[in-house]
Amino acid sequence: MATRRKLLDVLAGKSVMPPPIWLMRQAGRYLPEYRATRATAKGFLDLCYTPDLAVEVTMQPMRRFGLDASILFSDILVIPDALERGVHFVEGQGPRMTPISAEEICQLDRPDLLQKLGPVFETVRRLRAELPDETALLGFCGAPWTVATYMIAGRGTPDQAPARLFAMRHPEEFALLLNVLADLSVEYLIAQVDAGADAVQIFDSWAGVLGENDFDTFCVKPMRKIVEAVKKARPGTPIIGFAKGAGALLEDYRERTGIDCVGLDWTVPRRLARKIQEGGAVQGNLDPLLMVAGGAVLDEGIERVMTDLSEGPFVFNLGHGITPEANPDHVTQLVERVRSWSPK
Ligand code: CP3
Repeated sequence: MATRRKLLDVLAGKSVMPPPIWLMRQAGRYLPEYRATRATAKGFLDLCYTPDLAVEVTMQPMRRFGLDASILFSDILVIPDALERGVHFVEGQGPRMTPISAEEICQLDRPDLLQKLGPVFETVRRLRAELPDETALLGFCGAPWTVATYMIAGRGTPDQAPARLFAMRHPEEFALLLNVLADLSVEYLIAQVDAGADAVQIFDSWAGVLGENDFDTFCVKPMRKIVEAVKKARPGTPIIGFAKGAGALLEDYRERTGIDCVGLDWTVPRRLARKIQEGGAVQGNLDPLLMVAGGAVLDEGIERVMTDLSEGPFVFNLGHGITPEANPDHVTQLVERVRSWSPK
């Protein structure tokens, strides 16, 4: 049955033209109204934990661009925050927390997420009530591997060397950490669905630094565990999996994890993208820097993505999050182009 939310039709495997469009990190510093709201919050986490403010920044890109899906404003690092890892955001430098040790992993107390992250679920409830009926609301979390990389290094790193080295030196504790994070992710996603999220995306932003065996163990296995548990508890919940940089390993990622839609970054070759699309919905994959560049190269990029992918089940998105340097007018240009596109 067709729903009024185009995104959900696509996640169910239908081709829709024009495709639904939303952008990863669509709420954020590239918008002057975000910077203004952000300035009223004590810190970034206060923004995430104050439903009035989180609803406001979630709605900002919806008002400006009329996108087909809205993504809850929060962060993947609220899970380490609930685990009391001292998460904080340093202006201009990104996230910081206390690096976790092997001993601490064995002593991690499972937090009461419903209580600790209550304001996030309240934000989801308010958003579902406020959004138009035809707009899909997405919940999200970070995949265990990606969240673990921050917990181990205590910050973002270019190649995730601290987490990879930790996994080599302490395989048992590392497996335990991934398990704890997978269990918490299940609980967290279910609570978002119960609060009104129509679908969820799981961000494995650092999948691309792993070799094949580690990708299987650290990414595919925990992802499958989360997908199975969420779908068992809340049947029919559509799930988008975004394993950034996984390249050729994406070929059977859908089949191996049980996700409904495969997120593609902008480096995925068209032949592979189309092969993946034979199995169901894909999402992506415009280079986010085109939102900085604009102009004719942006139009060419849109043409390329639409020509490659719009015939099958497809959600238009960027290949990763929009950057603070992006020009909001280029987003307007993008949305107009995608909505008026027809094959040459
Ligand atoms: O609009 C949306 O997409 C929803 C909100 C959202 C944020 N972070 C807000 C945010 C989402 C979905 C995320 C996911 C996220 N957070 C990921 C996965 C996606 C990706 O980009 O790879 C990751 C790895 C994080 C961790 C994180 N949070 C980092 C590395 C940073 C610092 C880098 C940066 O962009 O500043 C953050 C902070 C953050 N999360 C900001 C926003 C809007 C900027 C913080 C600020 O306003 O000061």
